[in-house]
Amino acid sequence: MVKEIKSIFDLPGVGEATAQKLIEAGYDNLEKIAVASTGELVGVGIGEATAAKIIQSARDALDIGYETAKDILERRKNIAKLTTGSKNLDQLLGGGLETQAITEAYGRFGSGKTQVGLQLSVNVQLPREEGGLEGTCLFIDTENTFRPERVVQMAEARGLDPDEVLSNIYVARAFNAEHQMLLAEKAPKIIEERNVKLVVVDSLTSKFRSEFVGRGTLADRQQKLNRHLHTLQKIADMYNVVVYVTNQVMANPGLMFGDPTTPIGGNIVGHQATFRMYLRKSKEDKRIARLVDSPYLPEGEAVFRITTKGITD
Ligand SMILES: Nc1ncnc2c1ncn2[C@@H]1O[C@H](COP(=O)(O)OP(=O)(O)OP(=O)(O)O)[C@@H](O)[C@H]1O
Ligand SMILES: [Mg+2]
Repeated sequence: MVKEIKSIFDLPGVGEATAQKLIEAGYDNLEKIAVASTGELVGVGIGEATAAKIIQSARDALDIGYETAKDILERRKNIAKLTTGSKNLDQLLGGGLETQAITEAYGRFGSGKTQVGLQLSVNVQLPREEGGLEGTCLFIDTENTFRPERVVQMAEARGLDPDEVLSNIYVARAFNAEHQMLLAEKAPKIIEERNVKLVVVDSLTSKFRSEFVGRGTLADRQQKLNRHLHTLQKIADMYNVVVYVTNQVMANPGLMFGDPTTPIGGNIVGHQATFRMYLRKSKEDKRIARLVDSPYLPEGEAVFRITTKGITD
């Protein structure tokens, strides 16, 4: 009888030493191996033939493959939208931030990326008829900029009980890029237990940027970031949640080559985020959001404001 494959230790050709190599490189479960490339595993020190074989076995075990268009349509019927608090911005996004998708906000410091994230963490708790998802929020804070006081302000402006709102936001501080990745990987448990409907990663890229400097480590950074985004996309799909990530654009023109609005992470983020908006400051409390590369929405701009009450028109 063929042994059932339930963990990486059950994969044919994986002994103690190979398992150790895989785990140390972060390939500690079948999902990660199933989505790895042969080259990635060879890079970990595994022979090419073995690498190909264990990837295939992991894929078979997980039943990764085709799903019918009907299944996809069925899943997409569950897509819901979360309001930003600004009708203009919602409209630009086709009605709000979608579940089953990653929405990325990129822009310079002070452009409002974090403010939008905080507002969403409040709005997700609203009833559906008010643009909420009647759920809670998981907030991965990598820059130490999560401010409960600001959440209280936003909650009060909406007539919500601030204590209740705060107790429905689960904040985790990421110490480094690896920890950030781990927090996302471990998210499913709390998502299921606490009816999480929004995952915020603020910022998606700062830890990766500070830890992976120099040309030699660039490929490594992109690969890790890619894996992290893959985890987030899977969470969005599996649990029908909104994923909102922020990405700072370097303000120092001396560091920039080409387009000054190129976000950190470049195309790796671009290909995986379903919706990308570029935020920039305008007069006083006004901000301009531009939608970039949307799969089915027209490109355009929207003006919104950041006031003491939060994100408004
Ligand atoms: N309580 C408040 N009342 C009104 N406006 C506020 C309030 N708090 C923050 N803001 C506005 O939000 C701006 C900060 O925006 P935010 O922190 O979202 O920027 P960011 O894009 O996340 O920047 P960074 O890249 O540095 O993280 C402030 O400059 C201010 O204009
Ligand atoms: Mg910020």
